Amino acid sequence: MINNLLLDAAFSKPTDRPPVWMMRQAGRFMPQYWEIKNKYSFLEMCKTPEIAADVTMLPVELLDIDAAILFSDILVTAEAMGGDLSFTQGVGPRFANPVRTAADIEKLETEVSDKLQYVADAIKVIQQRLNGKIPLIGFAGAPFTVMSYLVEGGSSKDFKLTKLMLHNEPELAHRLLVKIAAVTADYLNLQIAAGVNAVQIFDSWAQALSWDDYTEFSHRYIVEIISKLNRTKIPVISFCKGSSVFAPLMAEAKPDVISIDWNVDLLDMKKRLPNEIAVQGNLDPHILYADKKVIKDRIHKLFERMRGENGFIFNLGHGIMPDIPFDNVKFAIEVVKEFRY
Ligand code: CP3
Repeated sequence: MINNLLLDAAFSKPTDRPPVWMMRQAGRFMPQYWEIKNKYSFLEMCKTPEIAADVTMLPVELLDIDAAILFSDILVTAEAMGGDLSFTQGVGPRFANPVRTAADIEKLETEVSDKLQYVADAIKVIQQRLNGKIPLIGFAGAPFTVMSYLVEGGSSKDFKLTKLMLHNEPELAHRLLVKIAAVTADYLNLQIAAGVNAVQIFDSWAQALSWDDYTEFSHRYIVEIISKLNRTKIPVISFCKGSSVFAPLMAEAKPDVISIDWNVDLLDMKKRLPNEIAVQGNLDPHILYADKKVIKDRIHKLFERMRGENGFIFNLGHGIMPDIPFDNVKFAIEVVKEFRY
């Protein structure tokens, strides 16, 4: 690897500046994304290795970031298990056959690696194009977050049906989570076998859960998945929205890196975690709407706070919003890349 910053920081080795990548760095805030998106549906983009590779490479070519992330979606596993998935502009993901009963869960398949072969193919194309320049991050959704889409039938504001299943029918919820967790571990190992250099687990909606429910319905499955990964030299990044509360518990799953949301002081959180765990984060993505001076000041403030700490990857606390100006994202990355400790 020519640029090893991400892997060094993930394994808590010293770096002369923090590495930078951003969640949703290949997406709708980029005019070049729309040139591709206007020709294909989102799922076609994910399922055609050459197109997935083209989109993965956009931020590598246009933003000069320190890591690429596979262009795909956390819901491709749920689709492979039997979910009738579609993405509609302005609506987001939708499952036409929500999973709400024991019979629905029974029908879900768990031997789905063949159906996800297109992801392995995309990874191979991307690695050829990256040619060892920067690491490639693979990813999957955490079982609770994926479950929420299957049960709700799409995005949700309050996760009412999902939480009702956890509370009224916990045994049923576990049956579903066990299946998703098994598929997720296999899927991440498929990505590792195909050549990704790091993996991130996205638990985007964990913040909806109480401490007890997070422990029982999310955390334990992440522990199980991480324990099954073929992870020699492959850092595991655990992301959850709600990490400002849950990070000490997330550490028990033994990831290499925990991605922290923006509600907490990053150094304070780093100090509460075991020494060997690196942190990723945690700029409020809304800062990227602000004036360039504000963007620069906030990044420098974060870096001064983290001065002297190994194990720090710069990222946002969550993904880039589609209407953030492209120029501001580019500027933020330049600010990071010019910084030296
Ligand atoms: O980070 C990256 O650039 C890699 C690609 C990536 C996408 N989705 C592309 C995408 C990743 C890592 C994801 C993960 C994902 N997908 C998550 C977890 C990450 C997070 O931000 O918390 C979640 C919750 C999903 C589910 C999902 N996929 C939703 C809710 C949506 C619709 C969003 C909306 O506002 O409409 C998607 C679609 C999606 N995934 C798009 C992209 C670029 C937009 C598709 C389009 O162009 O219409």
